[in-house]
Amino acid sequence: MLVDGNVRTLDRTFTEFVLTDEVRDAIGGVLESFPNPVDDIDRTLTRLRVVFAALPIDQLQGVLDFGRHVDTAGVALVRNLPVDRELPMTPVDGGPSRLKRTFVAECVLLGLSQLLGEPMGITTEKGGRLVHDVVPVSAGATSQTNQSSAAFLNFHSDIVYDETGRFDVPNPDFLVLNCLRQDVGKEAVTYYADARDVVAGLPEDVVETLRTPSFRLNAPGSYVRDVAGGAAVLSDPVAIISGPLHAPGIVVSANGVVGLTREAENALNELQRVCREVAHEVRLAAGTALLINNRKGLHARSQFFARHDGQDRWLQRTYLRRSLWDVRYRGVPDNRRVH
Ligand SMILES: [Fe+2]
Repeated sequence: MLVDGNVRTLDRTFTEFVLTDEVRDAIGGVLESFPNPVDDIDRTLTRLRVVFAALPIDQLQGVLDFGRHVDTAGVALVRNLPVDRELPMTPVDGGPSRLKRTFVAECVLLGLSQLLGEPMGITTEKGGRLVHDVVPVSAGATSQTNQSSAAFLNFHSDIVYDETGRFDVPNPDFLVLNCLRQDVGKEAVTYYADARDVVAGLPEDVVETLRTPSFRLNAPGSYVRDVAGGAAVLSDPVAIISGPLHAPGIVVSANGVVGLTREAENALNELQRVCREVAHEVRLAAGTALLINNRKGLHARSQFFARHDGQDRWLQRTYLRRSLWDVRYRGVPDNRRVH
């Protein structure tokens, strides 16, 4: 383990940043007076850039390097972040809380995000919002979506339905998850399997198969449920693993991948098995955030107990692109961050 200030490179695919209490309190004190950041998003992101520039230089560079370099870790845990003094009940419907009076959590989420890329709303995900509330919703308890709790959410990357037939191209480069409230039983584990570790752990012939365009990704469950009436909406055939051996890219849809041959189906099963073996595991609690590279690896989540009573696990999530240029064809007329 390398220790450099408060940046811990636990291995080549997992990094941790721990704020000191002084830095946490200094940033938190400033954020307490911030308005809801989505009301004037670009001004707030600019102000958050100034606030988060106060991170110690080792940590600031560590987060920037995480976002900009190919050879850095695929996942980073940030601990001891500021939290809201008062946290209302966890929303039960998957939408934002109407009771939240301060916006420290939202500002932490977006402040970390703007060090990595540009927050992007997706028209077919959470109504195009920039801040997604990820909470257990009883109707989706066993689904392969972010509403679930009573199901292992399989290793996947976050993809988006797109008319081009490629769901793995206009999707986010990064996701940031900020935890506002841990689940009551402290059971929920978030996993991240880096493609470098996955490739090293798989037999060569399985990797070969995963590199062929023998797979069709099913669109996200929210899209399939709300727009397609529940029927599968499959992508063009794609490869699961791509790119050079030292920096492979990987994509898997949560809502099912169809292997076009028997070898392809077998390879998918092997992939999920090896992901469980090589994955990093974290239990997110209030004041911790996870920075996830959505190209370098796959994430998953364990089952956990949900009561749907306002005390459940509550994460906020944002999707990021390094640049909005390549998704401009998806842009909506009246909001330049929604695609
Ligand atoms: Fe996800």
